[in-house]
Amino acid sequence: MKINDLKINVRDIDVVTAATPAVVVNLFKGVKSPSGATGAIDQALDGAISQLIKDGEIKGGEGEVTLVHTLGKIAPSRVVVAGLGSKDKFDSQVARRVSADVLRFLRRRGISKAVTIAHGAGAGGLDPVEAGQAIAEGAILGLYQFGQYQTKNGDEPKKFDDLTIAEQDGARSKSIKAGVTMGRTMAEAALLARDMVNEPANAMTPTTMAASAQQVATATKLEIQVLDNPQMKEMGMGAFMGVAQGTDEPAKMIILKYEGDPANLDNNLGLIGKGITFDTGGISLKPASGMESMKGDMAGGASVIAAMQIIGQLKPKINVTGIIAATENMPGASAQRPGDVVRAMNGKTIEVINTDAEGRLVLADALCYAREQGITRLVDVATLTGAMVTTLGKVCTGVMGNNDELIRQTIDAGNQTGEKFWQLPMFDEYKDLIRSDVADMKNSGGRQAGSISAAFLLREFVDGAAWVHLDIAGTSTSEKSSGHLVKGATGIPVRTLAQLAVNLAENGTKSKPKRKAAAK
Ligand code: BES
Ligand code: MN
Ligand code: ZN
Repeated sequence: MKINDLKINVRDIDVVTAATPAVVVNLFKGVKSPSGATGAIDQALDGAISQLIKDGEIKGGEGEVTLVHTLGKIAPSRVVVAGLGSKDKFDSQVARRVSADVLRFLRRRGISKAVTIAHGAGAGGLDPVEAGQAIAEGAILGLYQFGQYQTKNGDEPKKFDDLTIAEQDGARSKSIKAGVTMGRTMAEAALLARDMVNEPANAMTPTTMAASAQQVATATKLEIQVLDNPQMKEMGMGAFMGVAQGTDEPAKMIILKYEGDPANLDNNLGLIGKGITFDTGGISLKPASGMESMKGDMAGGASVIAAMQIIGQLKPKINVTGIIAATENMPGASAQRPGDVVRAMNGKTIEVINTDAEGRLVLADALCYAREQGITRLVDVATLTGAMVTTLGKVCTGVMGNNDELIRQTIDAGNQTGEKFWQLPMFDEYKDLIRSDVADMKNSGGRQAGSISAAFLLREFVDGAAWVHLDIAGTSTSEKSSGHLVKGATGIPVRTLAQLAVNLAENGTKSKPKRKAAAK
């Protein structure tokens, strides 16, 4: 697994006199005469930057990166001017993207070190902690490369491995450092999820997922339990076992436990992840074209393992259990057939109309298990439906659920991390879509409202607990590298899950009045 070895330091240095291959300053859109650090560099370069602005070569738009060689005029060999976009649209999300875009720009040119000002902490009005976090997250997430299986051709791969944030005010420097530490914790966990998702399915099996979870548990002192097929059969997990019977690869139910408030067991959160390490569709076989992307069908499970790593490190005052239902969905000789009826742990029966609607089957038993453990607040994460990609594309994650407060809290956590969520309705009328003639429900609702009908099946297994369902079928991978995202796995929604746990813990300790539930 790739461990990010990027150094990020905060130092009391002056950008004009820093001996570095590159110093990074910035500019808001429309600014004609730069001030602050950008202004100081401009002056030391006899107005080179304001000249470029006057000539229209630097406009300050977001994503714009301009490289200026200093030819010995000042200590840094190069100055990079990063556009921040318009000032009224600026926030930590922009700072995160800019940090990533600039560092990838430098890496492409073979530059491995730079000194940067803290984008946004000056004229941008960002809190220095937030600015430090955004820069660190942008750097770590944006520079991520998987490339594990490409044989070297002799050329040293280009890398960027040393970022220094220049800050001369002691108090602000301390805040930026705290932000960098938080950003590192968040981003490195997201990279763990990305690594797991990017691994091919012959390397990332349910057994290797359990081994990754074991590593996280050991490193952050979490309790871990891994259930195997005989145990799960014994416990009555017929829906999960129905999917698992088509493969020779042993299935695993992985349970990670963090106890942050042992005196208060009701203060809890369950994170439930879909861990299909490869989804062929089973007997309802998927078409060959694009099937390779189904190695990422365990992204929900990977997100839960990674979020548990953050929670184990930040130690919020709340009890959090991560439950990952991991198996392959294969069309083996003993695979389940369309028309089979399976019985989940809570006794409810499901007619398997389509063996490719396997995610909801494995999650049904994982949710039942969470409820048996006494968990009262549930968030499940799954690459559940192709319909989600059709509905919201790859821009935001679909949110469904039965509890407006928990839905609101999840979306709010996303607003903090910059991960986008959008709620879909759960009107009663949709329930008809999964009515079965032979069992309590069927696992496919057909072509209409595919993401919502899937959520309706899950709802049958939450037994009245507050529950949120996150469908990350679109957002778990990216088609291009842009900002803090790189092509391939995104690590969404790892940071949001951890942020939610932190926020719930803080709400609990402050015992502030309950937020009014959002309108139905
Ligand atoms: N893992 C897929 C959903 C998926 C599709 C995720 C594309 C990411 C990208 C899921 O198991 C699935 O196959 N769902 C079916 C359900 C249908 C048979 C009711 C689907 O969406 O087609
Ligand atoms: Mn499927
Ligand atoms: Zn699937």
